[in-house]
Amino acid sequence: MAPPQSWLQQNSPSEEVFAGWPEPVSAYSSNPFLILWTRKLLSAVGYVACASSGKTTFVVLKDCSGEVQCVAAPESIKEHHLKLEDAIEIVGQVRREARAKSGYELDILEVRVLNRSGQNLPFNSFSNLDSVGPETLIEYRPLAVRNEVIGNVFRLQAALLRFFREFLTQRRFTEIITSKLVASGTEGGTNLFEVKYFDRVAYLAQSPQFYKEHGVAGFERVFETGHVYRAEPHATSRHLTEYYSLDLEFGFIDGPEDVIQLERELLTYIFDRVNKDSASLLSLYRKQPLPSMLDVPCWEFEKCLELLRERFNRTDLTDDLDPEAERQLCQLAEKDTGISAVFVVGFPLLGRPFYTAPRGTTGAANSFDLLFQGVEITTGGQRLHRREDLEKALRGRGIDPTNFESHLRMFDLGMPPHGGFAIGLERLTAQILSLPNIRQATLYPRDRTKLTP
Ligand code: AMO
Repeated sequence: MAPPQSWLQQNSPSEEVFAGWPEPVSAYSSNPFLILWTRKLLSAVGYVACASSGKTTFVVLKDCSGEVQCVAAPESIKEHHLKLEDAIEIVGQVRREARAKSGYELDILEVRVLNRSGQNLPFNSFSNLDSVGPETLIEYRPLAVRNEVIGNVFRLQAALLRFFREFLTQRRFTEIITSKLVASGTEGGTNLFEVKYFDRVAYLAQSPQFYKEHGVAGFERVFETGHVYRAEPHATSRHLTEYYSLDLEFGFIDGPEDVIQLERELLTYIFDRVNKDSASLLSLYRKQPLPSMLDVPCWEFEKCLELLRERFNRTDLTDDLDPEAERQLCQLAEKDTGISAVFVVGFPLLGRPFYTAPRGTTGAANSFDLLFQGVEITTGGQRLHRREDLEKALRGRGIDPTNFESHLRMFDLGMPPHGGFAIGLERLTAQILSLPNIRQATLYPRDRTKLTP
């Protein structure tokens, strides 16, 4: 937004940067905040982050790039009755000010109120939000994310997504985008959302599982990021009905160990990039930078049950892990390796979806979970790649293979041995930042009771 015409005329600005003015330093060196800086005249737009009046009135103006302190004689801007969160434009002259955070201050020449904030907002974005309830923070999401602590959760989440893409693109994976309206579930179980689809029923995709496997037939290596849907009736701190899945799948593998190794390298890359790019942001949430994941161990499911029996006296587990067991196994891994993470491979085959390849002949599955800081953040594994094996697995679960014909047909295309995994983005974000509830890592969480905002 340019300053008002009257100012342009009076100050006869030119397009060249004021010659005698020092190069901008500090946070403002590449700052889109400074949208016009000619002859020391500056127009800055943003939200009122602080307004205080004494002999001098100080207004802190904040936008997506940072903040700048602006000063005026109280009388000159009194009429505007500025208050927190108002969207305004200030035209002023820049002055060096060693006491200001940025090293500069803006002497206010003119204020324009672009829009006033409401009178009855339940909180403002610049105060300490510890005493504001989580429901209120979700109800007023855009205001909450103006607060740096909350906004940074989602900045970090965006960075995770960017680095996921970056790594896989470097490894020759092709990004695919597939439909979320489907004719059948992929993961088994009953947690499918039905959609009225003209004169029949469709479902919201639980996972891009089938499509990413088709992607292997087409591209050999694929990834997809997108929302998936689970009709989870229970409210827990780790389940949503809509979550963002980071999926990948690739061909010509020898076994799940290849898939696990790829995840070690992928997470190490992402964590390294986050450590470098977002060090100060991360330090608000974690004492230590994110670890290298290259040495994260891989334990057989049966060994995990044994460890849980011996070390925690857990005799109640037989065919799956529960949240407490996931925490306990991470504790054991941390003692061994210094990293609170472990891959668990070889879950009972019958507890896994029909497409899962067996691990030997003992009824175990060639599939794994990654537990990170006490929570499962990934499931993956090797898949059946021969049509006859898939048909047999379906029949074994009492499902008629003809119901899956459009999927099974793709296995006639010379489908190679393949595997992949999926990471829940909100869970990954929550674990990295030690957030106790997945809803804190979800802009607009959906659960059984929540459909707005
Ligand atoms: P799975 O169902 O285990 O596997 O999901 C993979 C990962 O997705 C996350 N996740 C969830 N996050 C939030 N709310 C939920 N209700 C929820 N359910 C799952 C978790 C989990 O580890 N097709 C397989 C993946 C594969 O084998 O490639 C699948 O979807 O982080």
